Amino acid sequence: MSFIDISSVAKTYGPVSVLENVNLSIERGEFVVFVGPSGCGKSTLLRMVSGLETITAGTISIDGEVVNNVEPAARGVSMVFQSYALYPHMTTFENVSFGLRMAHKPKVFIEESVKRVAEILRLGSLVDRRPSQLSGGQKQRVAIGRAIVREPRVFLFDEPLSNLDAELRVQMRAELTDLHRRLGTTMIYVTHDQVEAMTLADKMVVMNGGRIQQAGTPLQLYDDPDNQFVAGFVGSPKMNFLPAQIASVGPSEIRVTGVAGTGQGVLPMGGVVRQPGPVTLGIRPENMRVLPSGENSSGLVVEGLVKLVEELGSESFVHVELTDGTRIIVRAGRRAAEAQAVVRVEIIAKSALLFDIDGQRVRGAGNSL
Ligand SMILES: Nc1ncnc2c1ncn2[C@@H]1O[C@H](COP(=O)(O)OP(=O)(O)O)[C@@H](O)[C@H]1O
Ligand SMILES: [Mg+2]
Repeated sequence: MSFIDISSVAKTYGPVSVLENVNLSIERGEFVVFVGPSGCGKSTLLRMVSGLETITAGTISIDGEVVNNVEPAARGVSMVFQSYALYPHMTTFENVSFGLRMAHKPKVFIEESVKRVAEILRLGSLVDRRPSQLSGGQKQRVAIGRAIVREPRVFLFDEPLSNLDAELRVQMRAELTDLHRRLGTTMIYVTHDQVEAMTLADKMVVMNGGRIQQAGTPLQLYDDPDNQFVAGFVGSPKMNFLPAQIASVGPSEIRVTGVAGTGQGVLPMGGVVRQPGPVTLGIRPENMRVLPSGENSSGLVVEGLVKLVEELGSESFVHVELTDGTRIIVRAGRRAAEAQAVVRVEIIAKSALLFDIDGQRVRGAGNSL
């Protein structure tokens, strides 16, 4: 049994279904990130773990104990929100120690606990300041301090960095990773930002429409998505999706035609269980190449018009409208193409994925990985 088990969990508000058949195991000490578009049910699931939300069906257990009917305060969890929710009239010391003071802990214990937390979060010089005298990042550290001081067995974070500017978010991300390493406490973290999820997670849980789409390490999800939603959600720029047809299926390869209208080629996919017919070919921007004029390719090539080139210094993103109207982005070197040029783009066949028209990955006995 895992440290936290979420088993067949559902949530409905009257007739509205918000979460359906959610199953997830979380190991002790794991940093788990729930990620997905706004409204997919991330906060609801987190709040069900915390006890702030009732569980309509299924069970959630923590450390072997079913907590469905356990009060939030008795679950041993601490939650940090996007809004720091600090008391404005209290100093950092008073905010961090609030819970311990309410629980009538001894004064010496409180002082030592706050001192330890202040060291962990580098709050030292800020303990006498009120929230109005702190920056956004400092306020968020105080809010985290208030969660740490209770020594919970699980930390729950709901979009804690969303109010910070981009630079500070990157810095706080690194601090959270470091904090997790030092404390070793199980953390569940909610964000809509896939980059944040990729950088923080041991286990990344992609959600959409009230369902878990896939859970795994960030690189597993990036390299081996189960469906088109996960493939398109993880990665930036996004995976490109091109309409195609499976023409024939062999023991170790499949032949595709009509890729974005005209492209055709052979994908080295062993034992794919699939009849000929329409599919979607997925290819990441780094797995394509703008062919220099004059260079021939025996591989899978599509053609189009360069609509835009974004030069980023070390690389460029080449936006191409293919002959059938499909828009793609190719990750290329500097000055790889010019706007308005007609270009041929080679798809690195071994990196292509196929999805059925309902978005499920077309896999075989040994897939293309
Ligand atoms: N009290 C409620 N009554 C009805 N629907 C709700 C309630 N709370 C949340 N929802 C709905 O549940 C869905 C999931 O919400 P939420 O978990 O907050 O999403 P996320 O955190 O992924 O953005 C949303 O469609 C939201 O409108
Ligand atoms: Mg939310």
